Amino acid sequence: MVEVWTEKYRPKKLSEVKGQEDIVSRLQAFVKSKSMPNLLFAGPAGVGKTASAIAIARELFGENWEDNILELNASDERGIDVIRNKVKDFARTRAVAEVPFKIIYLDEADALTKEAQQALRRTMEDYSGNTRFILSCNYSSKIISPIQSRCAIFRFKPLEKPVASKLLKDIAKKEGLKLKDDAIDIIYRTSEGDMRKAENILQATSSITKNIDKKSVASVISFAEPKEIESIVKSALAGKFKDAKETLGKAMVKHGLSGLDIIKQIQQQLWNLDVDDKQKVELIKVCGEYEFRLVEGSNEFVQLDSLLAEFALIGSK
Ligand SMILES: Nc1ncnc2c1ncn2[C@@H]1O[C@H](COP(=O)(O)OP(=O)(O)O)[C@@H](O)[C@H]1O
Ligand SMILES: [Mg+2]
Repeated sequence: MVEVWTEKYRPKKLSEVKGQEDIVSRLQAFVKSKSMPNLLFAGPAGVGKTASAIAIARELFGENWEDNILELNASDERGIDVIRNKVKDFARTRAVAEVPFKIIYLDEADALTKEAQQALRRTMEDYSGNTRFILSCNYSSKIISPIQSRCAIFRFKPLEKPVASKLLKDIAKKEGLKLKDDAIDIIYRTSEGDMRKAENILQATSSITKNIDKKSVASVISFAEPKEIESIVKSALAGKFKDAKETLGKAMVKHGLSGLDIIKQIQQQLWNLDVDDKQKVELIKVCGEYEFRLVEGSNEFVQLDSLLAEFALIGSK
């Protein structure tokens, strides 16, 4: 079973969230006093926003932390009414005795329309007695000012190179990898301070070799990669089987790829694709299975069709 490193190496304590020292020390003060206002986390992807929210919950609630934090993603939930109902259900029960509130983490809050944000603001007020919201967004300017003024705002920065480099080295050590400095250079340049992306590149490279150098990393993030792979995977996941099949056929001809090449490309690029982490793990398993079938000599087109169908199944879950 493949384990996604961004989950395996998700910080468990605030002190493990690196490169955001000012933020971490302010959050630690909230934990210490067991009191906090609503929070707004702003910043790019992969810099520790979700990790910080989870770490707060772990530190505040201890063993039962999972019962006391509700994680929602504004762009997944079907509208503000769904969010409101989930909040209502969740807020019905009390948190642990020492902490007078439960936490609602709403990711991608900036995906909500202005109207939905107004409704969210009312929800935040209705439940202010026993809940605290942590909203996360890329740009705080996309959040309406009545919400901003009800939150303490925290601006997360892309991780600086020494910080990202130390985190990558720690993971490499735990995974038994040799990680060269020139590999870190190229991983950092590609990920631009997005630690999720950096860890994904490292994990993808490690599936090829334990010797992580500039060359092996480059082979994973190769810029010569056919651009069609992402659209094939996305169409298949969305159940657009015909589109996926057509793009795949064309890509094979255009780039002179075999079925096996295609599967390898999907496997390598999957880590960098904008696909849910849990789905990624399943897709990787499926790729492994079909790679095996092709190596064994099964008919390439039959197998690729069936691979896309499996992807559609995973996408519909
Ligand atoms: N500041 C950080 N310190 C340590 N690890 C980090 C940090 N930021 C991101 N990561 C790594 O990247 C993964 C994704 O980070 P996450 O907090 O989910 O990012 P986002 O800011 O998009 O919510 C984490 O599980 C962790 O492995
Ligand atoms: Mg996040």
